[in-house]
Amino acid sequence: MTGNAPELYIVIPAFNERDNVAPLVTKLRALLGDTSWEAIFVDDDSPDETWAAVKAIGESDPRIRCIRRVGRRGLSGACLEGILASGAQFVAVMDADLQHDETLLTAMRDKLRAGETDLVVASRYIEGKTADGFSRVRATGSATATRIAQKFLRIDLSDPMTGFFMIRRQIVEGIASQLSTQGFKILLDIVVTAGPLRIAEIPYTFRERQHGESKLDAGVALEFLGLVLAKVSNDVVSLRFIFFCIVGVIGLGVHAVALALAHYTFAASFNAAQLFATAVAIASNFFINNTLTYSDRRLSGTRLVTGLARFYLVAAVGAIANIGTANWLFGNQQVWWVAGMAGGLMGVIWNYVIASLFVWRTR
Ligand code: GDD
Ligand code: MN
Repeated sequence: MTGNAPELYIVIPAFNERDNVAPLVTKLRALLGDTSWEAIFVDDDSPDETWAAVKAIGESDPRIRCIRRVGRRGLSGACLEGILASGAQFVAVMDADLQHDETLLTAMRDKLRAGETDLVVASRYIEGKTADGFSRVRATGSATATRIAQKFLRIDLSDPMTGFFMIRRQIVEGIASQLSTQGFKILLDIVVTAGPLRIAEIPYTFRERQHGESKLDAGVALEFLGLVLAKVSNDVVSLRFIFFCIVGVIGLGVHAVALALAHYTFAASFNAAQLFATAVAIASNFFINNTLTYSDRRLSGTRLVTGLARFYLVAAVGAIANIGTANWLFGNQQVWWVAGMAGGLMGVIWNYVIASLFVWRTR
């Protein structure tokens, strides 16, 4: 142990988990007693004031701490921030909702102590162990994601999707700036980014949730695929840029439908229909980006309205960049499709960079 830092630091991401805080702390105290440990809840300013429940306990027990993040959302980012707040030798990441079997923590710590392991993963799929707390749809989705990760990222973990693991903190410190703060899959990201690690797996049963509800929604599947693409391309393309492009492609579809509607159904002139379709597609791109691409910086209230206005402005200039590039290339003897694609690429990159800076700014 170094100085006063605890040996084990448990990072517990939490969003609207108020009723789970006290029971979890009770279980941790019973399990870890007066060994050297600390727990930190990373709460994204939960409306149910989970952070208040944690801080109330922390008043009489300094081992129970809380990072209350405002203006931000996201599981991976919360976990990373918790890990980096620590000075401990070993850090664990564990859900706040009691679905993870906390009694594994001591066995995980002992494996790291023994010195031959860098990372201990609590897995839901080894030897007869099941994922009881899981719906059918979720189980199928999780199994598919696991196969994709195993094949494309050459991961040979039986449960790379788990959110329960313990690792030597120094490993994460070394790669922190390369990790994605978006999405749910921080373990997968760590394993792929860190390169060869000595990994042990321990089986456990995923419990049913007692209080509150899951925050995983359909966007999680997309976030996962984005992470795989980013990692396969060696981070040349960021997760956010991939989302931005996916949304762009969806926008083309929206544009086509709006154009056809205006032109045929309402007999608008082609120019008027084109203008209308462009306006609709930009708005639709804005709202999908706000939900998906920038879920961690989501705008709401009046900021949503000003954001939309800014996005229109950005897109208008982007269109000029697009058409300008295409015309210039076409004028310089490029074939039409190369000129068109280059123009489109210019437009996308412009929109992406400028929107990140001026529409979804970090606060
Ligand atoms: N700070 C913060 N910010 N915490 C969050 C956020 C967020 O945006 N979203 C979720 N959490 C917290 C929850 O409060 C919970 O403690 C934990 O992260 C897991 O979230 P759940 O919503 O309970 O996820 P789940 O039970 O559906 O999914 C679990 O199993 C998956 C395996 O398929 C998690 O362990 C996932 O990490 C895991 O991938
Ligand atoms: Mn859960």
